[in-house]
Parts: sequence; C-alpha cells; structure tokens
Amino acid sequence: MSLLEVRDLVVDYRMGTTVVHALRGVSLEVDEGQFIGVVGESGCGKSTLGTAVVGVLGPPGFIVGGSIRFRGVELVGLDAAQRRALRHRGLALVPQAGMNALNPVRSIEGHFRDVLAGTGVRHRAEVRARAVSLLEQVALAPSVLRSYPHELSGGMRQRVALALALALEPQLVVFDEPTTALDVLVQRSVVDTIRSLQQARGFAAIFISHDIGLVASLASRVDVMYAGEVVEAGPTERVVARPLHRYTEALLGCYADPRAEEVTVRGIPGSPPNLVAQIEGCAFAPRCGVASDECRCPLPTVTLDDQWARCVHPAVAVEGRSR
Ligand SMILES: Nc1ncnc2c1ncn2[C@@H]1O[C@H](COP(=O)(O)OP(=O)(O)OP(=O)(O)O)[C@@H](O)[C@H]1O
Ligand SMILES: [Mg+2]
Repeated sequence: MSLLEVRDLVVDYRMGTTVVHALRGVSLEVDEGQFIGVVGESGCGKSTLGTAVVGVLGPPGFIVGGSIRFRGVELVGLDAAQRRALRHRGLALVPQAGMNALNPVRSIEGHFRDVLAGTGVRHRAEVRARAVSLLEQVALAPSVLRSYPHELSGGMRQRVALALALALEPQLVVFDEPTTALDVLVQRSVVDTIRSLQQARGFAAIFISHDIGLVASLASRVDVMYAGEVVEAGPTERVVARPLHRYTEALLGCYADPRAEEVTVRGIPGSPPNLVAQIEGCAFAPRCGVASDECRCPLPTVTLDDQWARCVHPAVAVEGRSR
C-alpha cells in the first residue's frame, strides 16, 4: 500500500453559475519517504491538487469525484474536524506564498505556539525549546522567534514556513512552489535545506513547481500536469531525458538545459485552455505542432519502461499503447 493514493480526483471551483474544472481526473501515488515532483504551467491545477491532498481545499473549491487515501484512510468526505485531526497525524503543506502563510500581526513564536498547541505542547518553555530546535534545523537563529513576518526577508519567511510545517513531524509534506518568489541564490539555499531535511527525516514529499529543471534536481519521480490532468509520469531522469508527451517536450524546450547553472526561460507559444469549457481529447492539441484529428478523440495511454503518457503522437517510439 502506498502512503498516498490519489484516484481520479475531480475538483471544481464554483462561482455562481460559472464552474472551473480545475482537476479533471488526477491519479498519483507517493510511497513512504519518496520525493515526487509535480510540474506544469500556471493554472494547470498544481495548487488545487496540493490543497486537496492535505485537506485544506475550501469553498469555492469542491471535490466532486475520486478518492484520496492516506495510509489507507479515505480523506474525501471527511468533515473539517476529522481532516484537522488527520493533519496532526501526518500531512503538512508549505503554501505557495510564504508571506500569506504567516499572520502579519503575530510573532514567529506565536505561530509556533498555535501550531504546537494542536499537539498538546502548551507550556511556554517547552514551545520555545521545540521552536528553537525546529528553527535550527532550517538554519535560523533563535532570535527570529521575537520577530514579526514583515521584519524577515523572503528567504527567512520561507524557512519559518518550513519549520512550522515540520513541527507536527509529518509523513508527507506538500511543498507548493516554496522558492518561486525568491531570488536565485536564496532559492538554491532553501532548496538545499529542503533536500537535507528530507534526507535526515525521511518524510515523503510532493514538490510542486513550474520549473522542471528544479524538480529534476530534487525528485525521483515526476508527474507532469496540463489543464487539470496528469499527462505524463515516470522516473524524473527518464522524463527529462526522453519525454513522451509533446507537452513535456515543449516544457523542457523552455530551458536551454534544465540542469544548467543559468536557465533561459522562453515559454511555450499560446496559452493553456479555459477550464470552464468541457475539453474533448488532448487539451494541449491547439498548441501542439503535430496534433491531428485523432487528438480530439479519447486518448491512448502510451508506455515505455515505467514511464507513461496520454498522447496520440509521442515524441519517441513507445512499447505499449492502450485505450
Ligand atoms: N479560489 C479559486 N477560485 C476560483 N478559481 C480558482 C481558485 N483557485 C484556483 N482556481 C482556478 O483553478 C485552476 C487551477 O488553479 P491552480 O491555482 O490550482 O493552478 P496552479 O497550477 O497552482 O497555478 P500557479 O502555477 O499559477 O500557482 C485555474 O484555472 C484557476 O484560475
Ligand atoms: Mg499554484
């Protein structure tokens, strides 16, 4: 049994009569201690997936289908109190915008007090000792406890968010673009901290990013998302070296070399589809150089070793093809 099993997850955002189909049947698995990456352009549903998995998706977002099993326990259909209890037993999120994750009128010590209260740690000295130890693990000095979020740099705030997520000793941490707002040097040092924490503590991780090069340097497996679906998945090295899906190929083409020191971001021509409309066949077809009429029909799953994609015209010769 995998630590996390997501099956055919469907999430809508409902605003009056407008419905955004943000996740259109997403499946993925994470084993204990495994570090996976989720990549895709802006708006493809990465944060929706992350918030749904840790149980913090709220209105106007609704899970309308599928299943999320964590350690064999079904999370879909639990009420807020049950979800909170589960969070205290193993799931944590490092949210996308570090600044918003912290309350601007609360000191950092106050944040630790709130998080640790859920575990029964309430005594001031005990909170402080735990917080100092957690801060040390993310390379921050104890003096940070007295600070307020606005007094810290972006990198320091993101380290505080990491320490708060780790306070509950999670078995699975979702990192939602934890370094996107940071400059390159700070980004690298926060990523190094995430990598060494994961190695030391052994938690499983879902690292969400639009940067496939960054994911390649961290994750053993990668799921590529487009327009609310996983379109390709497999071992990161394979997917990066030999993408099957034309979207993955285009995403990789955005960088001169995903492992290079300096990356040149070019972007894929065109833009992702509007998720209000129903999409028939491949959502990437309108932007794809090799699309044909077949791409507007139900798609085959193509496989090569332990890599798969949903693509009519894979970028390399495949072994298996099934509907
Ligand atoms: N609170 C919300 N209300 C309405 N629509 C939303 C909401 N949050 C997300 N969406 C829509 O759902 C879709 C998926 O958004 P999501 O934030 O999950 O994408 P993302 O891949 O995380 O993008 P980014 O890389 O920009 O963070 C988008 O079309 C977005 O506009
Ligand atoms: Mg996001």
